[in-house]
Amino acid sequence: MEVFKTKEALKAYLKPLKAAGKKVAVVPTMGALHNGHISLIKLAQEHADVIICSIFVNPTQFTDPKDLEKYPRPIDHDLAMLKDAGCDGVFMPGVEEMYPTGADENWHIDLGKAEFLLEGEFRKGHYQGVTQIVKKLFDAVEPDIAMFGQKDFQQVLMIKTMVAHFNLRVSIITCPIIREDDGLAMSSRNIHLTAADRKNALVLSKSLQYVIDNFDSFSLKELEESAKSFYKNIEGVELDYFTIANGHNLEPAKSKAEDNLVALAAAKVGSTRLIDNMIIK
Ligand code: PAF
Repeated sequence: MEVFKTKEALKAYLKPLKAAGKKVAVVPTMGALHNGHISLIKLAQEHADVIICSIFVNPTQFTDPKDLEKYPRPIDHDLAMLKDAGCDGVFMPGVEEMYPTGADENWHIDLGKAEFLLEGEFRKGHYQGVTQIVKKLFDAVEPDIAMFGQKDFQQVLMIKTMVAHFNLRVSIITCPIIREDDGLAMSSRNIHLTAADRKNALVLSKSLQYVIDNFDSFSLKELEESAKSFYKNIEGVELDYFTIANGHNLEPAKSKAEDNLVALAAAKVGSTRLIDNMIIK
């Protein structure tokens, strides 16, 4: 497995492979890898010949500098996992490589109303930062396909909007959420959970599963209200939102007959903010 620190070295590696007709996939990550990330690598291997994983903790998508500072960076562990998974190349640039004129460089694109809903309400500017770095990663790799996890449902929607905005030829593949045996969605943030938080964190998957299991029996309003009641009286858990939304635009669903419905939740568990979702249909 090759490791690249510069775009130039990465491009030099990819050039002959692309010339030979190899299909290239990129798996963008911020490191602190877990089996959810590895599932993206494995799925990428089914669709492409050369798999590049990027590891870059992107400063422009953090609203809270403390969050950026405490973001885990277990590089040796990440590289070992990627090697084991059969990843071909890892792109691990420094901040100066991705932001040569400084991380405050100008970037703004129209991501539509959905940018400001859900996560957008709690993390101002987050999706501008995400789409900014993903565009830079796409420019560096020029991939045929790119893999993203469904756990960040809104992120995938925003990235697809960015891809359409620039008319990029990359195909975006959304990969299913990988869960622990008890239902907790895998996340790099889970390592911050204390033993008590870890138990409390199950409220996200349980409340979402409740909606899936009871979708046919209750109205949207009843489902949402019951799901929200799961979060009441759990010490150390603070619900940010629970919504059943239209998966195309993230607006609250108006009718159970809409063709693309998703239940999404975000909550602070101890000092860790978690998100999760389940696709209803
Ligand atoms: O999902 C993530 O880890 C990040 O938001 C991404 C897509 C790698 C951009 O920094």
